[in-house]
Amino acid sequence: MASFVFLIMSIVLSYITSGATSRGGLFKASAMEKHVQWMSRFHRVYSDISEQASRFEIFKKNLEFVETFNMNTNITFKLDVNQFSDLTDKEFLAKYMGLVVPEGTNEVSETDKTMSFRYENVSETGESLDWRQEGAVSSVKNQGQCGCCWAFSAVAAVEGITKIAKGDLVSLSEQQLVDCSRDFNNGCNGGIMSKAFEYIINNQGITTEDNYPYQESQGTCSSASQVTDFIAATISGYETVPSDDEEALLKAVSKQPVSVAIAGSGAAFMQYSGGIFDGEYCGKHQTHAVTIVGYGISEEGTKYWLLKNSWGENWGENGYMRIKRDVDAPEGTCGLAHFAYYPLA
Ligand SMILES: *[C@@H]1O[C@H](CO)[C@@H](O)[C@H](O)[C@H]1NC(C)=O
Ligand SMILES: *[C@@H]1O[C@H](CO)[C@@H](O)[C@H](O)[C@H]1NC(C)=O
Repeated sequence: MASFVFLIMSIVLSYITSGATSRGGLFKASAMEKHVQWMSRFHRVYSDISEQASRFEIFKKNLEFVETFNMNTNITFKLDVNQFSDLTDKEFLAKYMGLVVPEGTNEVSETDKTMSFRYENVSETGESLDWRQEGAVSSVKNQGQCGCCWAFSAVAAVEGITKIAKGDLVSLSEQQLVDCSRDFNNGCNGGIMSKAFEYIINNQGITTEDNYPYQESQGTCSSASQVTDFIAATISGYETVPSDDEEALLKAVSKQPVSVAIAGSGAAFMQYSGGIFDGEYCGKHQTHAVTIVGYGISEEGTKYWLLKNSWGENWGENGYMRIKRDVDAPEGTCGLAHFAYYPLA
């Protein structure tokens, strides 16, 4: 394996040297050099030279996008190449997200309008809040190549309310949801947080990450006694935040972390590295799920939400994103205020 990698590296290096001598080849040469550095940084090994060549073309496009983007000083956030930078938008969408919304979800009916929202009368939300500082957020996790963002989003919200209501922060099992929450939800092929909460309610709880560790693929629902006998958290129900209402969302987040859907595809979201993300760079539909774990106002006076993602610590601000809050569009930046749910202790 080592000599194979060495072989590829030498071929690429000779490519770089020959490319650099031709006019206009400088960007390509430096892009190739960056690709090789990137491969080593993210431990990427391609099966052969032709795969490497086609991945390089994608990487180069993403690199150009990042470099051009970062030159525009008007934009309130920055990008950087990361573990996703040799993927097309389509591949990224297919492998690393996984939100699927059942038909009719959040279509407001007459009964919904009169449904009580438990935080509707909250009046004091304060200027900022970070649930991490309250010890209600576990470390950033990584869903890898499995479209089960829905499980990570739901687990983060349950971890949050469990800490807030019972006092202990325990890392809970996404894998249990991936394997066992099968009413509508479909493992690595997508799902939604509300159905995950329904599973946890019906199952009378969820176990710990340690007891039922993440596998990055769907398996058989484990009935092993260490899973069923060791329930680490329970919830009594869940509620839906009134749709397209950032003020209602703020009231909810002021009380606990909230699971939301987000239109988080596209080259900018994929390679976000810091700052306050804004709405010009979203995907078209809500295809991803994250957890809102706070809010605040930047030094420049921009209001933002604090999102916990499940793409590892290398993405964004150590795994988190700040994204514009209180925008003109009622559904919020990247539609984050459209589908929002929180579990009840
Ligand atoms: C930055 O914003 C200013 C003022 O709105 C505008 O005139 C300028 O064209 C913008 N620059 C870029 C690179 O978008
Ligand atoms: C909020 O206040 C209104 C008016 O006082 C009241 O009717 C309603 O029940 C309250 N909602 C909750 C969830 O307490």
